[in-house]
This record gives sequence, C-alpha cells and structure tokens, in this order.
Amino acid sequence: MIEIKKMTKVFNEGTINEKVAIADLDLKINDGDFICIIGANGSGKSTLLNCLSGALIPEKGNIIIDGKDVTLLSQNKRAHGIGHLFQDPLAGTAPHMSIEENLALAAKSGQWLSTISEKDRRFFKEKLARLDMGLEDKLSVQVATLSGGMRQALTLVMNTIKTPRLLLLDEHTAALDPETADKVLKMTRETIEEKKITCVMITHNMQTAIELGNRLIMMNDGKIILDLNKEEKEKLTIDDLREMFRKRSSSELDDDRMILS
Ligand SMILES: Nc1ncnc2c1ncn2[C@@H]1O[C@H](COP(=O)(O)OP(=O)(O)OP(=O)(O)O)[C@@H](O)[C@H]1O
Ligand SMILES: [Mg+2]
Repeated sequence: MIEIKKMTKVFNEGTINEKVAIADLDLKINDGDFICIIGANGSGKSTLLNCLSGALIPEKGNIIIDGKDVTLLSQNKRAHGIGHLFQDPLAGTAPHMSIEENLALAAKSGQWLSTISEKDRRFFKEKLARLDMGLEDKLSVQVATLSGGMRQALTLVMNTIKTPRLLLLDEHTAALDPETADKVLKMTRETIEEKKITCVMITHNMQTAIELGNRLIMMNDGKIILDLNKEEKEKLTIDDLREMFRKRSSSELDDDRMILS
C-alpha cells in the first residue's frame, strides 16, 4: 500500500508567484492498482507524480510506502524502485550509449557493467522483440539514432526490466505519432498486467482513461475531485466525464488537448 496523507506542495512560497499545486491531498494506492489521472492543465497531476517519485518534497503531509515514511527521502534514497516516464521521449535514455548498454544500466540499477554477457544479450533481445519495432537486431546501435517512439518504448522496457514498486507515467505517449502512441500504450498495458505493476498514469485522452486500468481519478486545482473504480468508470462516456468535471469544479474542462482526444 502506498499512502499520501494530507499532502500540500507549494511553489514559490511567500512570494508574489506563490502557487499551491497540491492542496491537502489524501490518496491510497492499493497494490496492483492501475490508476489513470485526468484533469485540466495546471491541476497538479505532474506535481503529484513528482512528489511520489521524490523529485519534489512536499511542504506538508506524508508519503508512506509499505509502512515506511519516505516523505523527506530524495529520489535516489527512495529504494523502492520507482519508474517514471515523461512526455519527452528523449528524457529516459542515455543517447550516447548503445541500446544494450542502456538496458544493462537499467538491469543493474545504474551500476556500470564492464561486460555484457551473451546471456544478458539473449534476455535483452527477448524483451525488445516484444516491442515489434526491430530493436532486437540493433543492440549495439547508439540510442541517439533511434526515433522518439523507439526511445520511449526502450525507456518503458528499462523502467520495467526489474519490476518497479511503482510505475509513474506522465503523458508518456502524448508526443508520439498516433500509430506509435498506440503501440507504446499497448505494450504499457501488457507489461503492467503481466507483471502486476502498481501504476499511476496521467493521460489527456479521456477514452484511454475510461478503458485502461482499474481506477480513474480526476484532479482540479491541486485536489482529487473524483475517484472512480473499474465498474463505475467503464460505464462512462466522455460526455459523462465532462459533465462530472463541470459539476465538481464549477468550470468547463478547458484543456484543448483533452477536448481533441
Ligand atoms: N517548478 C515549478 N515552479 C513553479 N510553479 C510550478 C512548478 N511546477 C509546477 N508549477 C505550477 O504548479 C501548478 C501545477 O502544475 P503541474 O505541472 O503539476 O500541472 P499538470 O496538471 O501536470 O498540468 P499539465 O496538464 O499542463 O501537464 C501549475 O500552476 C504550475 O504552473
Ligand atoms: Mg503535467
């Protein structure tokens, strides 16, 4: 169980630019939950994930992972294996290293491997073959030469090669072309289901949020305004979701990217 208790994250506190990005937020993430988060621009979705990963430390409240309070622990001290993918497909890989070197780093939790064995290579090939992008034949190719979609797919493999305690996906397919986005999303879903990974995914695609996972959370103004379980969310249409947002936030869902999807 991962628990967020009364968490508040403020940027530029005490200045004219003060912004309460997360306001007194409570959330329990059960083991095996696959949560989709939607909400307007600036509602605090990325900040919530950054607090969970340890990239940001909240001003108030607690984050408890498996009974241990990790609130003040920085990212690298949070030894729980938290995977984090971002919108930028170039963010998660080391461009001047080869595919197999990137994978070896991920497999050994960042420790440098002086030699990669044939057994390692077979293991990497098997993982890559499942992406259906031909990467299994490019193990020694420099990552900088790959397309954005290939790099994002590789980043997903790297973040799940050792089953993470928690996988955080911050619109990780938003910058990809529709076909590649579908491929990466399919692979995301399969990996999560197969390894039973606990996952929190931000998406601007309301249909994706309805279809994927077992929970749908809607955020507005640093708060959770809706938290639906699988049965509740699967009945919904996009129009229902819009209406729920309007009722609970007293505003329209003014997110251009979301309306398009
Ligand atoms: N490093 C920062 N410094 C100052 N303000 C920030 C910082 N990061 C986020 N904010 C502000 O906090 C609020 C929440 O931002 P956040 O990025 O979490 O929103 P979001 O829901 O992820 O939005 P989007 O859908 O645009 O990605 C916004 O008002 C944003 O401008
Ligand atoms: Mg964001």
